[in-house]
Amino acid sequence: MTDYYVADPAPRTRPQAWQDAAAKRSATAQTRRYAMTPPTYFAVEYAINPWMDTSAPVDVAVACAQWDSLRETYLRLGHRVDVVEPVSGLPDMVYAANGGFVAGDVAIVARFRHEQRAAEAAAYAEWMTSMGYRPVTTRYVNEGQGDLLLVGEMVLAGYGFRTDRRAHAEISAALRMPVVSLELVDPRFYHLDTALAVLDDHTIAFYPPAFSAAAQDQLHALFPDAIVVGSADAYVLGLNVVSDGLHVVLPSAATGFAAQLRAVGFKPVGVDLSELLKGGGSVKCCTLEVFE
Ligand code: ARG
Repeated sequence: MTDYYVADPAPRTRPQAWQDAAAKRSATAQTRRYAMTPPTYFAVEYAINPWMDTSAPVDVAVACAQWDSLRETYLRLGHRVDVVEPVSGLPDMVYAANGGFVAGDVAIVARFRHEQRAAEAAAYAEWMTSMGYRPVTTRYVNEGQGDLLLVGEMVLAGYGFRTDRRAHAEISAALRMPVVSLELVDPRFYHLDTALAVLDDHTIAFYPPAFSAAAQDQLHALFPDAIVVGSADAYVLGLNVVSDGLHVVLPSAATGFAAQLRAVGFKPVGVDLSELLKGGGSVKCCTLEVFE
């Protein structure tokens, strides 16, 4: 049995406004709110995941152009994008998903595993404060929406490389939501959002080899209709997507996954984020969703 936390008070005591909002998210496109941080100071000057090669050159101008096209894609789909101010000396800050988790009236700020990213927490906390939240911190490491993915009324939470499993109970309590803990076992898929995509309130896609046997069993049990993605797509971070319930913005190299999505009625929208892949991230990593 994999851990399954249910916060006290129980989820049914969640504010009505939240429940109404959750009920509105359905299998059709919904207007979403995202936060993104431009790659102004992007670089690969340390290696904290297997994708990062400090000897490979990075072109910041290309990274910025690719990031702009991702932002424009969201705007074209009718979504709102808040821009977080980048901080010099924090080259990974472009991966905004890791900044925390914002849902309803709760804003949880990240606590990073690696020293090189630690100072991003203050920058994201400042952004949350500027939006009127009082950011909540966790005692244990949590890397925000890199490892914490909302599906309907529950959170799927990764552990094994970055987020500390002990933070899952803290997250459940703060959000007043059940959290399902899933163990990641392959260092290439060090964050949950590199191996699992949330497509709508009850549909996910995932790459089974990234998970422990127990986590794979749990995912199949919770999501019998889950889309199982193959290695070719997983290895271009094809699962690192952002879905509005209908349009799925994904790395353009993930052509097999795009075809699988089309076959079940989603509309894949490919974007090229090859420069940001050098830091080990793609579409979802660059996007923090604000669940209002
Ligand atoms: N270089 C960053 C790191 O290793 C990449 C983070 C990618 N973000 C994500 N949500 N998977 O921390």
